[in-house]
Amino acid sequence: MPETVQIRLDGKVLECPVIVSTENEKAIDISKLRSTTGYITLDPGFGNTGSCQSAITYLDGDKGILRYRGIPIEQLAEQSTFVETCYLLIYGRLPNSKELDAFSTAFNEHSMIHEDMKNFFNMYPSSTHPMAGLSAMVCSMSAYYPELIKEDPTEEEINRIAVQLLSKVRTICAFSYKKSIGDPLVDPRHDLRYVPNFLNMMFSSPTKPYKIINEVVRALEVLLILHADHEQNCSTSTVRLVGSSHANLYASISAGICALWGPLHGGANQAVIEMLEMIQKDGGNVAKYIAKAKDKNDPFRLMGFGHRVYKNFDPRAKIIKQCADDLLKKLGIRDPLLDLAKRMEEVALKDEYFISRKLYPNVDFYSGIIYRAIGIPLNMFPVMFAIGRMPGWIAHWKEMIEDPATKIGRPFQIYTGPTKHDYVPIEQRS
Ligand code: CMC
Repeated sequence: MPETVQIRLDGKVLECPVIVSTENEKAIDISKLRSTTGYITLDPGFGNTGSCQSAITYLDGDKGILRYRGIPIEQLAEQSTFVETCYLLIYGRLPNSKELDAFSTAFNEHSMIHEDMKNFFNMYPSSTHPMAGLSAMVCSMSAYYPELIKEDPTEEEINRIAVQLLSKVRTICAFSYKKSIGDPLVDPRHDLRYVPNFLNMMFSSPTKPYKIINEVVRALEVLLILHADHEQNCSTSTVRLVGSSHANLYASISAGICALWGPLHGGANQAVIEMLEMIQKDGGNVAKYIAKAKDKNDPFRLMGFGHRVYKNFDPRAKIIKQCADDLLKKLGIRDPLLDLAKRMEEVALKDEYFISRKLYPNVDFYSGIIYRAIGIPLNMFPVMFAIGRMPGWIAHWKEMIEDPATKIGRPFQIYTGPTKHDYVPIEQRS
């Protein structure tokens, strides 16, 4: 493998270093291309561009590999908890039991939200999409906890904001759900772990305490772990880009939540269920909708299918499909949408259109079935993705801010507008 690559342009020669990752991925460092030759690279959608070096998550889309800090996602889904996975992502290694206890205790200390913040829930219309509420509230935390925002936060301050965000975000989400259905808010409880605490805040009421079911807790735990990071995706790149201007962590994460909201990204889990419901209402004609997804004149896409990186299978989808099957069996639920989803997957995976484009079910195809079984309302599905992705965003923001090589993110463009022409006074315009 060459150590450098030569680029010759207009009589100028640039020696570009070849960068090799710990997993043997290769990149050409073209950071001096513009200053040396005057050329930039054009890569719409960044399909071929590495924006940073990162030690957090490794994925190989062809082999269906996903690892957090080197640990395979399958092992974490089976043996870890969401809180432990948060620690792993943010601090780079698994905690010992003392560290994990201290981390979990800090979650309890930070689980309440500022009393004044509760006014937000009263001011928003009940029809507000929870992602709008969540992004606004997370950004507003910089107003309620201003002592933690400064240009150069210490390690301890970053740790405190991280725990605050991870803990409070769960309270904010549960409160906004309660508000949307007109129920009194349920405070977090110190005796409950992260996931049962969230479920209790969501579903407990003064007349009917929530019965914690271990299988439900585990299924949600697995979903959160599987969503916890996915390297330089749209929302994580947004967090890094916003943070690269030294915007505070709350503001950067709020921007990430907005990026996640779209149906091509974290909003896909909601869009999948809406699509399945529509197909079911229309008689469950799988062939018709597969044909629509293939028709280039039809805007319909098979939501929950396809991925920029995974071209063989999405390892998260494999675990989630099994998890959905197991949970529904344990809860004795028969969800016709799960059967429909499986039929769609079967037909699509045998179809030349999907085979040739390497389109497989992604993380969002089956996750909604689990959320439905738990009782989480449809418009909160992207919020569940956001709760899960929180540790990944924090880990990337922290890694970026601590890396002396970080520069403000500022891509270039190829201008396609008019060339220079003079201003015409209004009375002379036709
Ligand atoms: N249904 C039908 N055709 C599709 C689909 C789909 N779901 N996804 C991709 N294609 C086709 C696309 O039309 C294109 O065909 P052609 O080469 O003939 O023009 C080809 O496959 C490549 O697609 P692309 O849009 O260029 O691929 P991308 O890498 O830019 O987009 C994607 C990836 C995930 C946005 C896209 O596959 C998609 O829109 N999927 C549906 C939305 C979805 O499920 N999003 C969740 C992604 S996983 C969660 C996350 O991490 O965000």
